[in-house]
Amino acid sequence: MRSKAAHLVLVFAAITGLVDASARRLPPAVFRDPPSDAVDHVDPFIGNGGDSPNGSGGMIPSTAPPFAMTRWVAQTRENYVSVTPYNYTDGSIHGFQGTHQPAIWMGESAQVVLVPGLGDVRPRFEDRGMRFEHADEVVSASYYSVQLNDENDEGVFVEQSATSRVGHLRFTFTGNARPWVLLEASRASVMGSADPTNVTFPHGSVAVDASAREISGTNAERQDFIIGPNAAPSFRGYFVARFSEPILEWGTAGAGSGALRPNASSAEGAQVAAYVRFAEGVKSVDVRVGVSFISVEQARRNLEEEIPDGTALEETARGTRAAWAEKLDRIQIQGVDEEQKTVFYTGVFHALQYPYEQSEGGRYYSGYDDAVHEGESYTGYSIWDTFRAAWAWQILLAPERINGMVQSMLQDYVEGGWLPMWKNIVETNIMVGTHADSLIAEAVLKGFTDFDLDLAWEAVHKDATVPPEDDWTISYFDREENVGYEVRAGLSSVYETKGWVADDVHSESASRTLDYAYDDYAVSVLASQLNRSADAAFFLNRSLSTPFSIFNAGTGFMEARNASGAWAGPNEGWTEGDKWAYTFDVVHDVPALIARRGGNKSFVAFLDEHFDGGHNDHTNEPSHHIPYLYALAGAASRTQERVRSIAAENYNATVNGLSGNEDCGQMSAWYLFSAVGFYPVDPVSGEYVVGSPFFDHISIDLPGSPRPLVISAPGASSGKPYVAGVTVDGVALESPIIRHEQIVRGADVAFSMSASPQAWASETLDVEGARGVRDEL
Ligand SMILES: *[C@@H]1O[C@H](CO)[C@@H](O)[C@H](O)[C@H]1NC(C)=O
Ligand SMILES: *[C@@H]1O[C@H](CO)[C@@H](O)[C@H](O)[C@H]1NC(C)=O
Ligand SMILES: *[C@@H]1O[C@H](CO)[C@@H](O)[C@H](O)[C@H]1NC(C)=O
Ligand SMILES: *[C@@H]1O[C@H](CO)[C@@H](O)[C@H](O)[C@H]1NC(C)=O
Ligand SMILES: *[C@@H]1O[C@H](CO)[C@@H](O)[C@H](O)[C@H]1NC(C)=O
Ligand SMILES: *[C@@H]1O[C@H](CO)[C@@H](O)[C@H](O)[C@H]1NC(C)=O
Ligand SMILES: *[C@@H]1O[C@H](CO)[C@@H](O)[C@H](O)[C@H]1NC(C)=O
Ligand SMILES: *[C@@H]1O[C@H](CO)[C@@H](O)[C@H](O)[C@H]1NC(C)=O
Ligand SMILES: *[C@@H]1O[C@H](CO)[C@@H](O)[C@H](O)[C@H]1NC(C)=O
Repeated sequence: MRSKAAHLVLVFAAITGLVDASARRLPPAVFRDPPSDAVDHVDPFIGNGGDSPNGSGGMIPSTAPPFAMTRWVAQTRENYVSVTPYNYTDGSIHGFQGTHQPAIWMGESAQVVLVPGLGDVRPRFEDRGMRFEHADEVVSASYYSVQLNDENDEGVFVEQSATSRVGHLRFTFTGNARPWVLLEASRASVMGSADPTNVTFPHGSVAVDASAREISGTNAERQDFIIGPNAAPSFRGYFVARFSEPILEWGTAGAGSGALRPNASSAEGAQVAAYVRFAEGVKSVDVRVGVSFISVEQARRNLEEEIPDGTALEETARGTRAAWAEKLDRIQIQGVDEEQKTVFYTGVFHALQYPYEQSEGGRYYSGYDDAVHEGESYTGYSIWDTFRAAWAWQILLAPERINGMVQSMLQDYVEGGWLPMWKNIVETNIMVGTHADSLIAEAVLKGFTDFDLDLAWEAVHKDATVPPEDDWTISYFDREENVGYEVRAGLSSVYETKGWVADDVHSESASRTLDYAYDDYAVSVLASQLNRSADAAFFLNRSLSTPFSIFNAGTGFMEARNASGAWAGPNEGWTEGDKWAYTFDVVHDVPALIARRGGNKSFVAFLDEHFDGGHNDHTNEPSHHIPYLYALAGAASRTQERVRSIAAENYNATVNGLSGNEDCGQMSAWYLFSAVGFYPVDPVSGEYVVGSPFFDHISIDLPGSPRPLVISAPGASSGKPYVAGVTVDGVALESPIIRHEQIVRGADVAFSMSASPQAWASETLDVEGARGVRDEL
């Protein structure tokens, strides 16, 4: 925990822009086309550092367009749960990996690795690494390059770009030794993070077709197969690497043993790779790697469609940069320093990566029923995280994807029987709650209905009414293996008790109780949208009474309970949070929560105790909405202070610049909404709670909107964090709430800002005595 003094210095630094942005090399001019100042401010290194997996953003400096099926990254480590493929502290690169690992706590699946080298072919991870310096790297959203050197100072200059389903690399060899390129299809894979000696050996295959200048292959690795209910037995990654130069020699290799089989054209089994060599004098080799979840033929089609023969790397990179520019250029900011601009645009870059495309050529492989279907599909849904604000951000900035993303979840329901919780190819049962209910309700509320609404209702209703199998005997603890769909584990005990998940039956019982209550609220919102008024009333009632079934009036905190009703203790039953974070977790009924805590003044004092006592943990999601609760208790100026200091403490333009896991965009979505000046505390309410915009002027050209959303806040960038009043299209806001329909077609949101706390929406505070950042400085 930071000392108060340090915290104030950071607040000051963020307001005045004293912290320098990291010195990052921009790509050469040809890779900065089309011109985009916004894309130039994306720094993919942000969030890669951190001293431990949970103290890190878990992000990688990867290259791919928005929502890409495969992201390409230099491989400094073999990745698995809690280890990303690129770690900033490493000094060698062992290949270039097409990865599907969506978050640091998730497993990899079906990756493919391309390795350039000189001299003897070295297939083993430990032997094939080449040295590099960060000074010799160029990282951007659409193009990556690095100079690699071996111990003889012979080297390879590597350039990388990618489309959604195809990686594009160019190797320029320097030195005299003969170059080679190796493709690793399968490796020894560490199971989870617990025991690095417990490895599995996924099946792989490789085939060289010299006349077609191709290596094709398959990889069955799916690290999450040990958790979650879906065996997905025929799951494979398929790939086709096509080389620009004629293949003169080739062979297969054991990626574990290091043994080479010259002239062999194919191999299969554990730890297989294939390599190719080119004619004397070949100095530059261009390789495209098409990737598929359906077949080698589909991988080849993806390659030919997305990056046809003869396409220069420059062209691929231009297309990918244009795809980012299409999103990022929609947002123009004034009164922003270089560092804040980098944090902001990198946040947008992070928030538009997941879920990722799983369909190809109008079809997709489903691991739920192990079959190929027609349609659009996505995977990489970290819903316990992203339902909070990442989804709301995507609704604003990528509305063209929302129907497809919902449709994809409904397909998962049809093929597997349930909506996803944390889909990484298939269900992984990670975290708690059925927050797909929230994603769907929010989408419908905000006007997305281009999917089967009856089916959506059926799926959501099942979440809310059908407990998982063996609900009384399985605890469904985190990452419990060999269990079915977790969904609302403990729902049976909710029915038996007076509303809570019993702590003596289920893990994380108190968090579940509160999360299920919110999900019930989402179900009631969806029911209202669908004119199912009896259902709406039923689930609304349950959503309002459930949370307080675990409110211990004796202590003033939420607390887990056994089935008998006995309190289980203040530290029991929480997931990724504690009694402090979770006592504030009734986003759909904040007035009732305030009443339980003695009314507005007392609630504001409780929030102060929470923050000043160091209990707010922004590195994890349960705290994200808490600073905004002040505003709902008549203390908006306190929200403004807290939001500014949380932003300054937890976000910056360094590799350590995300204090906690990015979690598929939720960490960044908090920053983005906060910077704009409002946040979706209750995502299915259609309301945003007003905070403190960070910059003087932001204009967002929302897709499909007739005019821009303009947020003006003169002085916000320079010492005026407090809000004296807000108008939306000229109409003054009486309360600190902006409704979605007020902004979604564009609007002029005008803040008047001040250097000291203001009375606006702050009647609970004694404004004369209100603490202010400037006053304390
Ligand atoms: C990166 O590597 C360092 C050194 O091994 C390690 O301490 C750190 O936890 C790693 N970072 C992440 C995010 O795994
Ligand atoms: C963070 O990770 C470390 C191990 O890397 C672990 O010891 C610690 O308990 C974790 N902390 C939290 C809050 O999860
Ligand atoms: C290795 O992991 C598997 C799957 O989790 C487990 O069944 C097995 O017991 C583990 N083996 C060891 C030696 O820990
Ligand atoms: C591989 O094939 C080439 C060309 O036919 C031949 O010269 C070479 O001896 C073969 N190598 C091995 C190890 O069989
Ligand atoms: C709650 O249940 C657990 C498990 O049966 C038991 O160990 C504990 O004593 C119970 N707590 C109370 C307060 O009854
Ligand atoms: C719900 O009822 C309203 C008012 O009658 C109607 O406009 C709307 O289309 C209905 N919605 C659905 C999904 O049936
Ligand atoms: C829910 O319904 C029950 C039974 O009608 C009623 O007693 C209770 O007050 C309702 N709770 C809320 C929060 O509306
Ligand atoms: C508490 O503050 C909120 C927000 O200003 C206000 O709507 C509500 O009426 C207040 N409650 C009481 C009991 O004064
Ligand atoms: C950047 O933020 C991280 C955590 O969020 C923090 O540990 C680090 O000290 C900050 N660095 C700078 C230069 O502010």
